[in-house]
Order: sequence, then structure tokens, then C-alpha cells
Amino acid sequence: MGEKNRYWVLARRPVGNDYSSALELVEEELPELRDGDVLIRNAYFSLDAGTRMWMSAREDSYSPPTPLGTPVIGMVLGEVVASRHPDFRTGDLARAYGQWSDYSVSRPEETYVERVSWQLDDLRQHLAVFGPNGWTAYLGVLEYGNTKPGETFVVSAAAGVTGALAGQVAKQLGCRVIGITGSTAKGDWITKELGFDAAINYKDDKVAERLRELCPDGIDVYFDNVGGPILDASLENMALFGRIAVCGLLLNYDQEGPIPGPYKFDQVLMKRLSITGFFSPDFYHRGPDVNRHMRPWYEAGKLKMNFAVTQGVENTLDAYRRLFTGDKVGKSLVQVAEL
Ligand SMILES: NC(=O)c1ccc[n+]([C@@H]2O[C@H](COP(=O)([O-])OP(=O)(O)OC[C@H]3O[C@@H](n4cnc5c(N)ncnc54)[C@H](OP(=O)(O)O)[C@@H]3O)[C@@H](O)[C@H]2O)c1
Repeated sequence: MGEKNRYWVLARRPVGNDYSSALELVEEELPELRDGDVLIRNAYFSLDAGTRMWMSAREDSYSPPTPLGTPVIGMVLGEVVASRHPDFRTGDLARAYGQWSDYSVSRPEETYVERVSWQLDDLRQHLAVFGPNGWTAYLGVLEYGNTKPGETFVVSAAAGVTGALAGQVAKQLGCRVIGITGSTAKGDWITKELGFDAAINYKDDKVAERLRELCPDGIDVYFDNVGGPILDASLENMALFGRIAVCGLLLNYDQEGPIPGPYKFDQVLMKRLSITGFFSPDFYHRGPDVNRHMRPWYEAGKLKMNFAVTQGVENTLDAYRRLFTGDKVGKSLVQVAEL
């Protein structure tokens, strides 16, 4: 096709948060499309913490490890610029599992590719409120967490995209919502901008103590994004018959060996807790329905999401590192073209 494409390849397994020693940027001509292929010019691709787990060699995660020497996969949003699939046409706007790249070649028969509407005030929300993070937040709160109006709801990584959306969904149910974040500025964002009732800074505060003060009757639902000590602090503050919706275990994604804890696991019995894990590809097919429920909240300004946008495929790795250092607010995207 003559057009050049740059894409990130996993050359080695990363150690900790060092991605520049592990990933390589490759440039080559776009391949000829095969029957069933769709070529998307990526406008944005999404940076997701879970990708870190697939970069490792761990075999027991919810997705197999990314094979060495292959492109790094991510959710993309862009325009279809060529199609050899009967359901996709040039000019369609598509969200798909593509690559961390300028262009993605995706095969709808083998992977997730969906046509989405150009009619949205901020098209980037197809990768946030109205994409997998939004669906995870909505179903994590309502179905997996079984959250009821008026309950006390706590969420970690609360200024990340999923946590911030989960807290806002719980607010729409009339819950009292407490978010755990890593800075005062993030705490201010979730309370002043997003309407959370309180914030805890896990770097400065004693989380278990603050939870005890803020939730004197216990936590009804803990939406966990991180695991580790914050999960333990929540376990010891759960209400009787509380629920823990395990969305993510961020703390463990770069670990190869067995993961310790949680140390307060006995509270599951003592408080008769339910713990449910969930994984968004299991419910991608429900996305349109979930979006119909969330749209009125979004239009009323009750479901908001900011973006931390990095320009250029070549700057991906530093942006990815910031997911784990916490040096960003809202949904992390790399922009590689205009929409
Ligand atoms: N189950 C699913 O299908 C599904 C779908 C989407 C996402 N997830 C999970 O949801 C979680 C959040 O992902 P996301 O994409 O919403 O997040 P994100 O926007 O990438 O934000 C991540 C935030 O987590 C915080 N963080 C990082 N390391 C931490 C640590 N060690 N302890 C506490 N907080 C830490 C950082 O903020 P601070 O400054 O506050 O530390 C960081 O900004 C991840 O575990 C991800 O795997 C699961």
C-alpha cells in the first residue's frame, strides 16, 4: 500500500516500570489487506494498566501473555480507511482491539471491532465514558457490586478512569462515595468536580483509620482497582454482608511470582462478605445497552471524564509509565492523528 506504519513491539519482558528497555518502535510499510481485514487509521489509542500484565510472562492471568516479538495490543479509536470486510466501510468510525501504532489492521471475525457514532460532543468518550471503562464501572457498581441506593461505596484508584466513573455511577444511585487516590490534587478533583463525598490520600493518610472515621457503619461496597494494603484496609472496615467488586489489582501487574495476601481475608467469613471479580470483554456485547443508561447522566453533566493525552506514537512509553506512577488524571490516551 506504500503507506508507512509505526508500531510498538514487545521485544523483552519489562522489569518494573522500565518500558524503554523492553519495547521497540518498528516502522514498516502497511501490509496488503486480506479478506476479512479492516484498516483503521488510529486517531487515539488507549493506555490500560491491564496491558502491563500481558507484557509479563505470567500464564494465570485473564489473558495469555503477549508473545515476544509481536505488536502491543490496545483499544483504538479511528477512521476506517480501507476494508475487506462486508460490515465495515471507508469513513466508518471504529473502536477496536488494534495496536499501539499509527494504523491498526483488525479482523472483526477474530477480535473486537465495533462501528461507533460520529455524533458525540467529544469523540474521545468512545474510549472512556462510552467504552470499556464506562461499561466496567457501570456493571461493576450495579451488578458485580450489587450496589443499592443510599449505601456507602468506596473505590480505589479513584482518579483513574474506571474508578472515577464507578464513583460517579454510585453517586447517581444516591450512595455516599469515598475515593482513594494518591494526591491532594486528585482528591480535590474527585470531590469538587465529580461530586464524591470524601477523598483519602493513601500516600499521606492512614487508610484503615480514615475509612473507620468516614464509614462508621462500615463499607457496603468496595470497588477494588489495586489490591494490596488498600484491600486489607477496606476488608477490616467492611459492613456486615458487604460486597467487594474486584475490578483490578494494579499493584500486582508487574509481579511474576505468587502474590501475598490479602492478610485480612478472615473478614470475608466474619462479615459474611461476597467477593466478585469481573472482566470487561465478558460484557462488551452489553456496551450499547449500558451506554443508553449512562447517556442521560452524561448529558446532564453528571458523568464526566477528563483526558490525559500524549501526542505521538513515539511518546507512548513515558505516558504508559505515568499510569503506574500516578502522574496523570483521568483517561490516558495517545493521539496519533486528528479525527
Ligand atoms: N476488570 C476489568 O475488566 C477492567 C477494565 C478496565 C480497568 N480495569 C482495572 O481497573 C484498574 C484501574 O484502571 P484504569 O484504567 O481505570 O486506571 P488509570 O486511569 O490507568 O489510573 C490508574 C491510577 O491508579 C493509581 N495507582 C497506580 N498504582 C497504584 C498503587 N500501587 N496503589 C494505588 N493506586 C495506584 C494511580 O493514581 P494515584 O495517583 O491515585 O495512585 C493511577 O493514576 C486497573 O487495575 C485495571 O486493570 C479492569
